[in-house]
Amino acid sequence: MIKAGVLTISDKGSRGQRKDLAGPLLVGILTDAGYRVVRQDVVPDNREEIAERLIEWVDKDGLRLVVTTGGTGVSPTDVTPEAMRAVISYQIPGMAEAMRASSLTKTPHAMLSRAMAGVRGISLIINVPGSPKAAEENLGVILPALDHALAKIAGDTSDCATP
Ligand code: MTE
Repeated sequence: MIKAGVLTISDKGSRGQRKDLAGPLLVGILTDAGYRVVRQDVVPDNREEIAERLIEWVDKDGLRLVVTTGGTGVSPTDVTPEAMRAVISYQIPGMAEAMRASSLTKTPHAMLSRAMAGVRGISLIINVPGSPKAAEENLGVILPALDHALAKIAGDTSDCATP
């Protein structure tokens, strides 16, 4: 079973001023999809703290999949994409494009998310927005491609079959 983690990125959540609903929701979705969620935490909207936690979970704890929620937007405190850039070696633009394209059919505000999907080593890190509804909708879009993405990132050289 692939080890996964869910990181909620929220100033209010980290101070206990807002109950983290998106994090447990994502844990449930990933668990139902067959991933073993071994890490879950809440960190503030702080670029260094986000980057440190992502590096720890991937490099030290060996998580192959990390889903973050929150901080992807355009408010001054939103720094999730900036932390991502410091951590990943390359992006998978199609995953973020797919999330935004699908989300735009639900709300024009979807264009405000700067969420990324990126690779560090043989691990995949995916950002989804912070509201539980948006988090669920966005993860749902990429879920069908996750297993294949993780296999390819880990070096699977078999030919791609059409699903
Ligand atoms: N995507 C979906 N599917 N559903 C939503 O409700 N909300 C948007 C967007 N993406 C939304 C969505 C809103 S309102 C914002 S501001 C951005 O995600 C960024 O959210 P974040 O700053 O919480 O990460």
